[in-house]
Amino acid sequence: MSRKPIYFDYNATTPVHPKVVEIMNKYFLNDFGNAGSVHQFGLNAHDALDYARNIAANFIEAKPIEIIFNSGGSEANNMALQGVLYKQKQLHPNTRPHLIIDTIEHPAVWETANFLEREGFDITRIPVDNEGFVDPKVIEEAIKPSTALISIMYANNEIGTINPIKEIGKIAHEHEVWFHTDAVQAFTKIPISVKSENIDLLSVSAHKFYGPKGVGFLYVHNDLDAHKNESTASHYLRSLMYGGSQEFNLRPATENIPGIVGMAKAIEIAKNDLLNENNRLIKLRDYLINHILNEIPNTKINGPIKNRLPNNANVCFEGLFAYDLMIELDNAGIACSVGAACHAEETKPSRVLLGIGRSSAEAESSMRFSLGRWTTQENIDSLLELLHKFIAKLRKNK
Ligand SMILES: Cc1ncc(COP(=O)(O)O)c(C=O)c1O
Repeated sequence: MSRKPIYFDYNATTPVHPKVVEIMNKYFLNDFGNAGSVHQFGLNAHDALDYARNIAANFIEAKPIEIIFNSGGSEANNMALQGVLYKQKQLHPNTRPHLIIDTIEHPAVWETANFLEREGFDITRIPVDNEGFVDPKVIEEAIKPSTALISIMYANNEIGTINPIKEIGKIAHEHEVWFHTDAVQAFTKIPISVKSENIDLLSVSAHKFYGPKGVGFLYVHNDLDAHKNESTASHYLRSLMYGGSQEFNLRPATENIPGIVGMAKAIEIAKNDLLNENNRLIKLRDYLINHILNEIPNTKINGPIKNRLPNNANVCFEGLFAYDLMIELDNAGIACSVGAACHAEETKPSRVLLGIGRSSAEAESSMRFSLGRWTTQENIDSLLELLHKFIAKLRKNK
């Protein structure tokens, strides 16, 4: 009898929560209006948009006018980096705006920075330490008079490292530089306050926390006083697209109401049990890591023990190709990943693992196991049992 497949790839994407599907259906089937229309269907859609904007804003201690809905993490990161740098260039045409990132950013930041460099902007890539942490002092040393933006991820998607965001934000603000963080992996796994953590721009993607794919938002700090309900986003960001005036003139397109409302529902669900669920995941994650390290010889953990995403484990199994192990596990009904899923078909060793000082061979022997809402102790035990079996087999064959 075949076993029910077990999913260990929640950092890649998550199933949509049934309550999210339920509310989305209402906006697909009944309240399907265009939020720009003035009849009742449109007004209902517009109310839903306002409701979702409030939920998203409250969750990070922001104001509703600071939330720009869009298609998810890649767009939010592009919007932040391209938006700020091109705006600076527009405001000061004779300058060469400078951007600081680190070397283990997600491709949505990394490749955008590469593109901006080809466009003539000045880019600094800060190395990380051997657990993936960015040192705020190194950031400070890299700041120049022309620095327009610092972009450092909140938590890494492959090795789970959680950066000292508040400290980096403080340094950025002391030098009057804007600070962006890609919080796609951290959002709902760590309580975030854009206010107290000195964050000016923050990227979020719904499909990482049981919401639908293709929807997310960029938070953009508003510097007008609280009574003025007027977005200042376009003072700091140039739009990536041209068209309608949706999302405070920054993001033209008919709003994806079912997706946006679904994301808001996913935030509400996460908010209700954030601490309990994260504590549960930390226990399961640590059980998995400890059993692997203690019972399987020649293994080591990639990334930190402390300040790590509650649901992420990334392990180097020396003497085998992780890709072969992934295929064995998949054939046995267990899904996990080598590198990050969005580019897992790449054959090159992970830039993140090389960035923390792993050799190419070590990087090619590393696997990511990411846990989530439906992971059980039984699932972990099944995984451990199969790891023992397949690792012995693959090491013998090599
Ligand atoms: C850290 C990080 N940033 C950005 C993204 C891209 O988000 P999206 O899939 O919504 O475009 C991902 C997705 O894997 C991610 O893990």
